[in-house]
Amino acid sequence: MLNIALPKGRLGEQVYKLIAEIGYACPGMEEDNRKLVFESPENQVRYLLVKPSDVAIYVERGAADVGVVGKDILLDSEPDVYELMDLKIGACRLAVAAPNDYIEDKDAALRVATKFTQVARNYYASKNREADIIKLNGSIELAPILGISDVIVDIVESGATLRENDLRVIETITPISARLIANRSSFIFKSERIDALMSALREVI
Ligand code: PRP
Repeated sequence: MLNIALPKGRLGEQVYKLIAEIGYACPGMEEDNRKLVFESPENQVRYLLVKPSDVAIYVERGAADVGVVGKDILLDSEPDVYELMDLKIGACRLAVAAPNDYIEDKDAALRVATKFTQVARNYYASKNREADIIKLNGSIELAPILGISDVIVDIVESGATLRENDLRVIETITPISARLIANRSSFIFKSERIDALMSALREVI
């Protein structure tokens, strides 16, 4: 069996479509239910449906041979895995956003709210900008509205969340998309299976 960790949620839906296109789908996987493991004996694959931010942990530790994960998470957690392919789905960007009327005080440390603490730390270190990084786990847009941060570092896809909260992008950090990753020893010991998967994916991307 090839064990494949897939993200649940918004990116998951696009990944399941890709999986279906290459003929690797499992009945029931796209339905919204509580089942977390799906097997396709004819394709010799087992899917583990996990939180997007956990995919790389399962792959790094060998519970999954390969997985699909956003580049944002790879940049932030720097897992010890191989990054094999850009799947060209889940396209968005990591950006700095601020309230529409924000004016930067260059003499004060910048207060930055984010889920992506490592990305934010690296970004401001590269700019030699003193930053006070505040870790939040969701609804990051609230932080500057409530005055606990000056700016946020977050994912921007359509921009709707920013617009609806009177925020705007002030800097783009990097474009993001979903990546196929592999466990380092699986990449050697299951190379034929992983190569076949990559070839099939290449055909449909
Ligand atoms: C992400 C991100 C933004 C939103 C951006 O949140 O943190 O809030 O999507 O998308 P948009 O530009 O299309 O509006 P997510 O939905 O993953 O949930 P979260 O707030 O719990 O992080």
